[in-house]
Amino acid sequence: MTRLFSSLRARFLAAILIWVALGIGALWFSSVRLFSSHVEQQYHEELEVHVRELAELTVLDAAGNPRLSRPLSDPRYAVPLSGFYWQIGRPGYRSLKSPSMTRGALDEDVAHSPDILHRVENGPTGPTITYGFERAVPGGAPLHFVIATDERLLRAVIASFTRELSLWLSLLALALLASGLAIITLGFRPFNRLAARIAALRRGQADHIEGVFPDEIRQLVDPLNSYLARNAEIVERGRVAAGALAHSLRTPLAVVTDEAERLQQRGTESAAADVFLSESETMQRQIDYHLSRVRSGGSHAGMVGGVRLAAILPPLIAAMERCHPGKRFAATAAALDTAAPSLPMDAEDLSEILSNLLDNAGKWARSGITIDYRFDGAARRIAITDDGPGVPPDQREAMFGIGARGAGPGAGSGLGLAIARDVARDYGGDVALDRAPSGGTVATLRIGDWPAGDM
Ligand SMILES: Nc1ncnc2c1ncn2[C@@H]1O[C@H](COP(=O)(O)OP(=O)(O)O)[C@@H](O)[C@H]1O
Ligand SMILES: [Mg+2]
Repeated sequence: MTRLFSSLRARFLAAILIWVALGIGALWFSSVRLFSSHVEQQYHEELEVHVRELAELTVLDAAGNPRLSRPLSDPRYAVPLSGFYWQIGRPGYRSLKSPSMTRGALDEDVAHSPDILHRVENGPTGPTITYGFERAVPGGAPLHFVIATDERLLRAVIASFTRELSLWLSLLALALLASGLAIITLGFRPFNRLAARIAALRRGQADHIEGVFPDEIRQLVDPLNSYLARNAEIVERGRVAAGALAHSLRTPLAVVTDEAERLQQRGTESAAADVFLSESETMQRQIDYHLSRVRSGGSHAGMVGGVRLAAILPPLIAAMERCHPGKRFAATAAALDTAAPSLPMDAEDLSEILSNLLDNAGKWARSGITIDYRFDGAARRIAITDDGPGVPPDQREAMFGIGARGAGPGAGSGLGLAIARDVARDYGGDVALDRAPSGGTVATLRIGDWPAGDM
């Protein structure tokens, strides 16, 4: 329930439903009420007129029996069992009935006063609305005039009106709901557009929210854009400052290292010199690491469209083959496919990661390295497999530490894997080391989400 109403769309829809139901309901109720009372009033007026007419047309014959001087003007009183009846009675005389009353009789109870009264009685064809009054006859029994109309006729008129009204109002309700839905859908379109723009922002395909939006949404977009611009500026300034700091430390550090080496050579203070040297080396490593991180794009700025692996891989392989003569670097067809989906990254950053992984593979491989590319939806995976000695499982994670390196060929800085993982994580991805089926190492760069268990 709460989940449902956390959607603005659902809220508007519910409001429209309630609004239409209340509006149409009230309209229906008041229309039926108005129409019924109007029709009833007309019926009653008509009956009153008819009972008056009946009295006016009544004359007494020589014997004192009532008789009509001419038939009533409404022909329905002449149609048998039409539901329209009249009756004139005079105690002690023959009573007179309308030709429509071929059976039964009307109760003359209602005609006991000179005032016209009405009530519902049982007539020849069901309950009737009955009007009646009494007129005195000088020197004789009074005359009772009664006129009746079947109640069902009145009910039938109201029922047919109600049926038709219900049909039309249902159609109106449907039309209102449909237009409400259309309004909601149209009204929310800019939000969908905004969501798409923000997704592009997150994927790094844009550095601000573009497009023309309605005023209400521009109120959000404009501040967000200036926030983004300011943020990018701060990040850039921080990056420049960090770079400047690292550079400014380099020269003094080189002097310290130099001095320590001289101390070591003299052999007088060799213990202290060792400490100086190893600490300087640590500092140097940290500086190199942070400098390379500062260089990395990472901010996603200006990487619209991403980068194609097939575009950056061949020059990387060529460079690696020069650095590691005798090792064969082979890329699979997928990795060299220029039509394969691009990676949502800065080209520099992808090259940085791959050159670190390829360099390791080249260093450790016995003879060959393969580079494979796989993609599935938004997920991308580049696997670099070598036929080297592999990394023991309990050391794989440790090798990602800054300065961590194992014993073996080539003196490295121990920064390659740390940098590769850091850059990958900037993009929400990761780098991992695993055992290759052949026994060597497979280093994997993963960007985007892979289905569980498929990594
Ligand atoms: N493909 C590989 N095969 C075997 N060992 C590897 C491989 N890649 C990385 N390693 C191990 O991880 C360590 C750390 O790698 P890295 O961070 O790139 O530093 P470096 O290459 O400077 O030694 C390496 O020294 C090595 O012991
Ligand atoms: Mg390395």
